[in-house]
Amino acid sequence: MSDLLDRRFIVVIGKGGVGKTSVSAALALAAAKRGKRVLVAMCNANERLSHMLEVPAIGERVVNVLPRIDAVNMTPASALEEYGMLVLKVRTLYKAIFENRIVSSFLRGVPGLEAWSMLGKAYYHATSARDDGRPQYDLVILDAPATGHGLDMLRVPKVIMDVAPPGLLRREAEKAWTLFGDEVHAALVLVTLPEDMPTNETIELHAAITRDMKLPVAQVVINGVFPRLFPAADREVYEALPAALPAGSELTSLAASSRARVLREAVQAVSLARLAAELPVPRVELPYLFVPEFRRSAVEALAAAFG
Ligand SMILES: Nc1ncnc2c1ncn2[C@@H]1O[C@H](COP(=O)(O)OP(=O)(O)OP(=O)(O)O)[C@@H](O)[C@H]1O
Ligand SMILES: [Mg+2]
Repeated sequence: MSDLLDRRFIVVIGKGGVGKTSVSAALALAAAKRGKRVLVAMCNANERLSHMLEVPAIGERVVNVLPRIDAVNMTPASALEEYGMLVLKVRTLYKAIFENRIVSSFLRGVPGLEAWSMLGKAYYHATSARDDGRPQYDLVILDAPATGHGLDMLRVPKVIMDVAPPGLLRREAEKAWTLFGDEVHAALVLVTLPEDMPTNETIELHAAITRDMKLPVAQVVINGVFPRLFPAADREVYEALPAALPAGSELTSLAASSRARVLREAVQAVSLARLAAELPVPRVELPYLFVPEFRRSAVEALAAAFG
């Protein structure tokens, strides 16, 4: 586990709502605690990270949010401009190219270019150096879009390599693709929940990444794992309990909640077993946190799993 935070670029990917942003935030806190300078880059998200971390809203410009942690919510337009600027260096050149009406309408039609602008910008930050030669960030965490869009985004460099003529764009795409496949410096992290549908989708996502795209997956994060309260051997007893109580018993609601929890733990056990059997990847479990509001202290609690 420890070496995950020593990489330069982590892509956090998974089904919608499973906890990608929470995991990205937890990884950022864990890395910052080790003294690393971190950038969390979101992709045009309905931004909730700032609420989680209890910091001001995060927009399309990189801002410092916590000690050693910067964040940005990239939009295709802003990322395209910034990425163009970062790579082309000269604003007048950028304006000449990207703000030319004909060119920009042409660019909008290039499949994947918007996704590439965000991925490319995150990649740029992961590899660029400051004036003193030190890396700008020790770690860039890309909080990728949910499954399908996230996969499309990861595929873009390969598409560019296949279709773009030799030149700057293709060279950048080749470098990015090389980094994604580099298990020392980069990591793809799959986030899931210990439930039926997310488990199916995660197994499919893993196959798409490793088999179709031939990229390595470094870690599966199983988020929202309920602490086990009931030994598997006792499950049938608790399942039968509400029906076994006399009508009007004071214990009815207690028995009903135990039954619900027992069923949930059973579903979870099946998912965890399937993930263990079907994904040859290190797994880490994050607990479901029973908190009234999922804010910074909750993210800190999850970060402990990566510390
Ligand atoms: N371990 C956890 N325990 C309890 N609640 C959690 C946990 N992880 C995430 N949550 C809750 O689930 C919500 C959704 O998580 P999050 O925003 O990280 O998901 P996401 O995968 O980034 O979603 P989206 O696909 O919409 O970007 C969080 O706001 C938080 O309230
Ligand atoms: Mg999110």
